[in-house]
Amino acid sequence: MSDVAASPSDLRAIPVDDLTIEQAQAELAVLAAEIARHDALYHQQDRPEITDADYDRLVRRNGAIEARFPELQRSDSPSLRVGAAPAAGFGKVRHAMPMLSLGNAFAPEEVAEFVARVRRFLSLPDNAPLAFEAEPKVDGLSCSLRYEDGRLVLAATRGDGAEGEDVTANVRTIRDVPAELPPPFPAVLEVRGEVYMTRDDFLAMNRARAERDEPPFANPRNAAAGSLRQLDPSITAQRPLCFFGYALGETSERVADTQSGIRRRLKGWGFRLNRPAARLGGVEALLRYYAGIGRRRAALPFDIDGVVYKVDAIDLQERLGFVSRAPRWAIAHKFPAEQAQTRLKAIAIQVGRTGALTPVAELEPVTVGGVVVSRATLHNEDEIARKDIRVGDLVTVQRAGDVIPQVVGVILSQRPHESESFVFPDHCPECGSLAVREPDEAVRRCTGGLICPAQAKERLRHFVSRNAFDIEGLGEKIIEEFRNDGLVRSPADIFTLKDRVKRGEITLVGRPGWKEKSVANLLDAIEERRNAIALHRFIFALGIRHVGEVTAKTLARHYGSLDAWLEGMKAAAREMPKPEWAELRTLKGLGPASVDALRAWFAAPENLETVRFHANAPDLRPETALRNLGIKELKQPAITALVERYGTFAACLDGLRTAFAGAPGDAWTELVNVRDVGAIVAEEIASFFLEDRNLEVIEGLRAAGVRVEDAEVRQAADSPVAGKTVVFTGTLTTMGRNEAKARAEALGAKVAGSVSKKTDYVVAGADAGSKAAKARELGVTVLSEEEWLALAGG
Ligand code: IVH
Repeated sequence: MSDVAASPSDLRAIPVDDLTIEQAQAELAVLAAEIARHDALYHQQDRPEITDADYDRLVRRNGAIEARFPELQRSDSPSLRVGAAPAAGFGKVRHAMPMLSLGNAFAPEEVAEFVARVRRFLSLPDNAPLAFEAEPKVDGLSCSLRYEDGRLVLAATRGDGAEGEDVTANVRTIRDVPAELPPPFPAVLEVRGEVYMTRDDFLAMNRARAERDEPPFANPRNAAAGSLRQLDPSITAQRPLCFFGYALGETSERVADTQSGIRRRLKGWGFRLNRPAARLGGVEALLRYYAGIGRRRAALPFDIDGVVYKVDAIDLQERLGFVSRAPRWAIAHKFPAEQAQTRLKAIAIQVGRTGALTPVAELEPVTVGGVVVSRATLHNEDEIARKDIRVGDLVTVQRAGDVIPQVVGVILSQRPHESESFVFPDHCPECGSLAVREPDEAVRRCTGGLICPAQAKERLRHFVSRNAFDIEGLGEKIIEEFRNDGLVRSPADIFTLKDRVKRGEITLVGRPGWKEKSVANLLDAIEERRNAIALHRFIFALGIRHVGEVTAKTLARHYGSLDAWLEGMKAAAREMPKPEWAELRTLKGLGPASVDALRAWFAAPENLETVRFHANAPDLRPETALRNLGIKELKQPAITALVERYGTFAACLDGLRTAFAGAPGDAWTELVNVRDVGAIVAEEIASFFLEDRNLEVIEGLRAAGVRVEDAEVRQAADSPVAGKTVVFTGTLTTMGRNEAKARAEALGAKVAGSVSKKTDYVVAGADAGSKAAKARELGVTVLSEEEWLALAGG
């Protein structure tokens, strides 16, 4: 692809209708970079290199390709900012309170589960009333408006939820957004809502664009996003944008006790609200509301993709809080996906970062819910086999919201006669290494590791991605070019670029699209990351399987510093339980208590003599010998199990010794007990650390001077439970188990799943069982629920 991208003029000779999807994608990338470069030359440096007519040709070509392949539109597409005066771009804004997204429900059972989850969390009995506020889910983009002393001072897009873009000047041009609020209002008020465009305005705007030979927008959402993200507010002013308020961010005082109350206040301040809303109790009422809105959907003047249910009482919302990016107190109930039928032209196999082979359907382009789709995911090989999907089949494709389109099934009556079942490759299409499947896994993986160019490429792309190192100017495309040209092979190479440039070993200036200034900016951006990268970003960037952003954050918080984490992970890898131990633990008849007792007994030096004595008495039956050891926890079923498994007494001794040697150590136990981790994730982390080439990547980064910041210790360091490890067990009465955990974590405590020497407190509710007993045995403080509440401050 890189040689194609290097000569855009060749590509432009191909009529748009003849472009393959790969060519189209490559050319859109080239056009985005090239148009951005001309924008900068024209607007910032006042020295254009091409005529206005040639510039227009580039923009039109870009628009025409996007019109044919709308799914290829890039987030940095020039058509999202045509005519803009690209100054330095938008300023960044840190949100005072994170801007959340919403969890999704599709089936009625998922709505019921949401309601049940809320009740469980709050420990609300089934008959206690619980009201929800329901409203349509508008398909636009979310925006936060900050008012100080009643005046609009800042408007920001959501961005990644923590940090967005400053679009104040543009938002001031939206008529629905009041510049000043009528009193009374709190000194600080953040209004969260959705910027959107009505369907009629969208159609009118596209008609006008067509008359001016401008490419159309694919749907109202894109049109709204493109209009809001104009760098020139006078252009936004001409776009028919609207705004709905639906929630609050930071406020200097409480403005209402309920969600419906918030709506009334918003209305009083002059905001438009998304209607029709309703205050409802119970799953049936929610589902009736959903069905009703579904029926009225086409008649509403704007696009909606579902409805939102929110717990009405604000104090309950506060107790529920949020998990990762979504509130526990709200959920989006989405409308079913839109479907269409088309031919499956081919099945391509992509190789991902962890070597997973993913089948992708290449389709005759078809419009699904207003967007042209030409590729769809096929998930994995079992899915293809189960649905018997064959090349040449007529297939049903569906698309829901922002998710990747998927192939739902085959229309068998339309199957061509000569079709054959699809044979999934057992070798990596990229490097030819064997591709294997673990017995309990759905995916087949390339075994080539970093010798596989596809894996190496994906790992690098992951390394620089937004939630990882996120180096400005070093996006996925550039890193791929650098890799193809041998400038960057492993992550550490990014941080030696500057030195290599200085020493004259490589040159960046003069590469297509790179000038003195852009190279200097890139090297500065790299320096900034070298000097400080948050620990969780570093962990996430390594691309360990199953370690997503949330787990990376939990690990960072738990271990605190890079050194502590690395030491912990290496130790955990060494101390991973061996299969012999796992086998002993699963022998029927041998509970954890008898295993613990056996292990303790065999570890005690004073028992050695007894063992030797019995081992030298070969005519004793093994059952008798085991019983004679005098271990009181070793009951008859356990003895039978051991003899059945190992045979003779000597073999029992041998088997036990090997199993005990394979028992997990404290570092492993600690890792497994970190919230969100568990055995499967821990195994992935351990196997990552058992591979030398992974350790080399980490050492390489440290040697290149990358400085990793310690994780913030959770807020409330002055809380008496900050930094303490707590285990909850038994039934709690004032709140659900999950709420208890969430609150403890908010106070800076670490919540673990099982009791060890490192546990500080075990909070025992009603019917607390073995965990409380184990705590007493280990001398760990056991608290009642009341004592815990008193300690943690109520
Ligand atoms: S409430 C704390 N209400 O949907 C959660 N969101 O998919 C705040 N959205 O990011 C969201 N209509 O941009 C809420 N009536 C509505 C909405 C709505 C659209 C958007 C919002 C959110 C996204 C999540």
